[in-house]
Amino acid sequence: MLNWDEFHDDETTTAEVPSSKPQTPVSQPEPQAEPAVSESAGQYKVADEDRVARARKSLEELDVAAGLEELEMGAARIEVDDKQMINARADLNQLVPFKYEWAWQKYLDGSANHWMPQEVNMNADIALWKSQDGLTADERRIVERSLGYFSTADSLVANNLVLALYRLITNPECRQYLLRQAFEEAIHTHAYQYCVESLAMDEGAVFNMYREVPSVAAKSAWSLKHTQSLARADFNTGTTETDQELLRNLVAFYCVTEGIFFYCGFSQILSMGRRNKMTGVAEQFQYILRDESMHLNFGVDMINQIKIENPHLWTPEFQDECTQMILEGTELEIAYARDTMPRGVLGMNAAIMEEYLHFICNRRLAQIGLKEQFPGAQNPFPWMSEIIDLRKEKNFFETRVTEYQVGGALSWD
Ligand SMILES: [Fe+2]
Ligand SMILES: [Fe+2]
Repeated sequence: MLNWDEFHDDETTTAEVPSSKPQTPVSQPEPQAEPAVSESAGQYKVADEDRVARARKSLEELDVAAGLEELEMGAARIEVDDKQMINARADLNQLVPFKYEWAWQKYLDGSANHWMPQEVNMNADIALWKSQDGLTADERRIVERSLGYFSTADSLVANNLVLALYRLITNPECRQYLLRQAFEEAIHTHAYQYCVESLAMDEGAVFNMYREVPSVAAKSAWSLKHTQSLARADFNTGTTETDQELLRNLVAFYCVTEGIFFYCGFSQILSMGRRNKMTGVAEQFQYILRDESMHLNFGVDMINQIKIENPHLWTPEFQDECTQMILEGTELEIAYARDTMPRGVLGMNAAIMEEYLHFICNRRLAQIGLKEQFPGAQNPFPWMSEIIDLRKEKNFFETRVTEYQVGGALSWD
């Protein structure tokens, strides 16, 4: 951590470096004088007087009111009730007063959960990946497919946040979390790249999988089409139709992409870690899953808050459409499970994964107030819920900082 004494020491050290130039004697300052000014002060030249004059002239002509444009100079100060999730007219540059405490709390929790991929030891994974008989062909396929899907999926999510969603969410505390989430997505893409590099995998094959392997490409294309509709330069919210389009994007990215498309790959890799295989990759995935479950919960909160503020958007027809979207996502993930598990592997198979995904589908529907479509579906992987469960996650956040600072390993139980 920086401290001012060190800063001062540096300055002193620099000043004391012996110089070969003859020194000009400097008179001692009076005891009551201000600290000595560097002897070089005032001894430099302006390269271009005219350029500086032009800058000053330009500032004289600055129209402050026009620069602040929509800020309505002299308008009343912001009240909490002026704030809204979408289509707000309140000043978006002022974080406080908070209206959505849950958004600010998630920003704080996400920040407390900071981690970086290079801090995870990958040595055991490198040795196992290189060895001839360390992993079965089916296990290798799972590692390759997972890195193939996720290495670009988190970029799709980040691009959606930055290029499509951010400008349309008109609440500063939610935007604060979106900025945090965008950085976490960058860390996740970094983590996948770090795994690919550590294992000396074929980068071209991994990063192009979202265009070349059908089960991966179908999921990516499904997500991308929802970014495209909002990222059009002429798109804006403010009508029932366009506000519903924004809600479609939230359902597509938070409930489906981050809420369903990540779950087959996560459970496969975490199952591998529980069997003491590819533990570095699995540890990266475990950190990522904890971030992702927060992203999902934030998205669910946003959707539900928009519903509360705009009940006219949540028509029976629109609810039906959202249910269909979540079912489509579930079908795509089941197809991915079949592609990645042609046979039983790691104590799982495609049929067991299908029930798990139906269980997840029910949860996503229920979280935004829609009817479960697979009543009675059970969770065959209770250990996944242990990792994801929000109350556990809260406990995790309360204890993690200490664990993290001492480099404590994650538990697989
Ligand atoms: Fe992510
Ligand atoms: Fe995410």
